[in-house]
Amino acid sequence: MTPRTLKMTAPTHRVQEGGGFWVRRPAAMGSLMSPFLLLDEMGPSMNKPGEAVGAPWHPHRGFETVTYLLEGAMQHEDSEGNKGDLFPGDVQWMTAGRGIIHSEEPHPDFQKTGGTLHGFQIWVNLPSEHKMMNPRYQDIPSSQIPIVEAEGIWARVIAGECLGVNAVIDTVIPITYIHLKIEEGYTHQQSLVSDLNAMIYVFGGEVSIEGKVIRDGQLGILNNGEGVNILATKNAQMLILAGPELNEPIARYGPFVMNTREEIMQAVSDYRNGILTQPVQ
Ligand code: CO
Repeated sequence: MTPRTLKMTAPTHRVQEGGGFWVRRPAAMGSLMSPFLLLDEMGPSMNKPGEAVGAPWHPHRGFETVTYLLEGAMQHEDSEGNKGDLFPGDVQWMTAGRGIIHSEEPHPDFQKTGGTLHGFQIWVNLPSEHKMMNPRYQDIPSSQIPIVEAEGIWARVIAGECLGVNAVIDTVIPITYIHLKIEEGYTHQQSLVSDLNAMIYVFGGEVSIEGKVIRDGQLGILNNGEGVNILATKNAQMLILAGPELNEPIARYGPFVMNTREEIMQAVSDYRNGILTQPVQ
């Protein structure tokens, strides 16, 4: 196997999102991140009772939003009638397809008590042939998400495969999404399909890829190769993300991600006319 090497690292910026919560967001990497459009680390933030903020009702079309919670509690609700609580370790994989309107808010109980909120939201693009698919909602509790452990290694397999264990979440295009912890001095060998784009977001500690370092808060973009050897130079925690390069034009406006400007204008007009979520005739 030819191990992947590190192509480059992107720094993260702190930006405010939704109703005003802070996220760490890697600098835009364009097609280097394809098929991922966005990676937001929400918090960790300490919230007093009543202080936590989320993202009130808003639309999406043309891609998927994936929420993974590490601390705190959230409650999601959408125009398809889905409603789900998110607790630590839970994942909600929401395929907007032709259109969905949803709210992503702190859980009412969490609002009463306050506490630490920490998690991730990533946006996964859909290829043009699937952009107008029917919306799909996978609300997967932590208890159903496989965890794999080896000496010095702990991994939650959200999508794809890790150390021979396969995820339960179904993805439209082949996606790898793994939450990985490695103890200092240990190396994790992650197998990856060679032509997928792959990246590692470190959110604690530090790792080395064939001698090149990814630090806390950096997104490391990997070169192609069969797999990757990840050495923890400090106790480290990270997400491994991989997926196919879509090689399609991206037209993006707020919560809509399509291929052309015309499709974006159609999405805006459908939303204004209240037909964003209606089946295509
Ligand atoms: Co949203």
